[in-house]
Amino acid sequence: MKSSWTIPAFVVLSVLATGPAPAQQGSVADTVHNLSATGPGEIRSLTETEVCKFCHIPHNPTAPQPLWGHRLSTVAQYRTPEMASGRGGRVLSPQPDGASRLCLSCHDGTVALGDVAGEKSPITMIGAQRLNPGRPGYIGTDLSGSHPVSFIVPENLVDDTGRDMGLRARSIIEADPDVRLDASGKMQCTTCHDPHSDINYRPGEVPHFWVKPSFDEVCLTCHELR
Ligand code: HEC
Ligand code: HEC
Ligand code: HEC
Ligand code: HEC
Repeated sequence: MKSSWTIPAFVVLSVLATGPAPAQQGSVADTVHNLSATGPGEIRSLTETEVCKFCHIPHNPTAPQPLWGHRLSTVAQYRTPEMASGRGGRVLSPQPDGASRLCLSCHDGTVALGDVAGEKSPITMIGAQRLNPGRPGYIGTDLSGSHPVSFIVPENLVDDTGRDMGLRARSIIEADPDVRLDASGKMQCTTCHDPHSDINYRPGEVPHFWVKPSFDEVCLTCHELR
């Protein structure tokens, strides 16, 4: 998330990306998103046994979609990266919304991990009560070094000098089964990461919760190699 997003870097990476087969981690329970007592990560509850509960609740959710149970962050203003405006010039990308806000409810570090609906007080965790600076999962509220999210992916894109930025056609992007835009056609955290499956993870090569088996396949779904 914090890297500088340079296209040549991942093109080089793709040539080197021939590591061992990924560990089989097909369900949430096998990932660091299992914050219950059975979780494989450093951060988990000592006593809570329900896996889904840290994010979802069947009744009285904090957000209707997708029956969200984790307390949402109240951060009003994230620092967001610049992006091309599409009309020449650069603009700040929008404030995170949709699924990205759900991720940030834990990853911006402002809300306790165990602060879920239906509990009198936050569930006590071991490892860490919240994602603080220094944790591998900490992102904070400064997203300016990251890929923009929560914007509608345009049909085609020219930069401020009028140069075509090599974005693939919307129809090609929307046809991809793994790299998904949300119902409003927006790119979100969930375009690159699947919070339910870490099956593609390969240390140093493929990030956690990656939606495809290799790093560059995700980028190349949208960006043309030039
Ligand atoms: C364009 C694809 C893409 C999008 C969109 C994206 N990420 Fe990532 N994310 C990555 C990559 C690649 C890495 C691996 C580390 C790196 O290269 O910076 C990563 C790393 C991470 C990490 C590990 C910590 C770190 O900073 O390296 C977390 C946590 C994370 N992402 C969460 C998120 C959240 C939350 C969002 C939405 C606000 C998001 N990601 C959106 C590609 C993406
Ligand atoms: C760490 C947080 C997290 C955990 C734990 C989690 N989910 Fe989710 N889930 C999400 C997010 C975020 C979304 C929204 C995805 C989107 O909008 O693309 C979601 C969406 C869903 C959806 C809607 C369909 C979809 O995939 O978008 C279902 C169904 C679902 N989750 C079921 C479950 C079940 C069952 C469990 C427990 C086994 C679980 N989830 C555990 C974060 C989580
Ligand atoms: C209920 C809290 C919670 C929610 C919601 C949540 N995560 Fe996480 N996530 C965690 C925790 C805890 C870890 C382990 C982080 C650590 O050990 O520092 C983690 C780890 C990660 C990592 C791996 C970080 C690394 O490199 O070690 C990524 C990537 C990630 N989450 C992405 C997402 C995305 C994308 C979403 C939304 C679709 C999301 N998470 C929603 C709690 C959450
Ligand atoms: C769903 C499609 C999609 C995916 C997947 C995607 N991108 Fe992008 N990316 C875009 C769009 C659209 C923009 C342009 C936003 C703007 O500037 O208006 C963009 C912007 C960028 C920029 C910055 C351009 C600028 O204006 O500064 C870089 C660099 C970049 N992407 C690299 C990557 C990398 C690396 C990956 C994979 C880890 C990736 N992208 C994945 C759609 C995508």
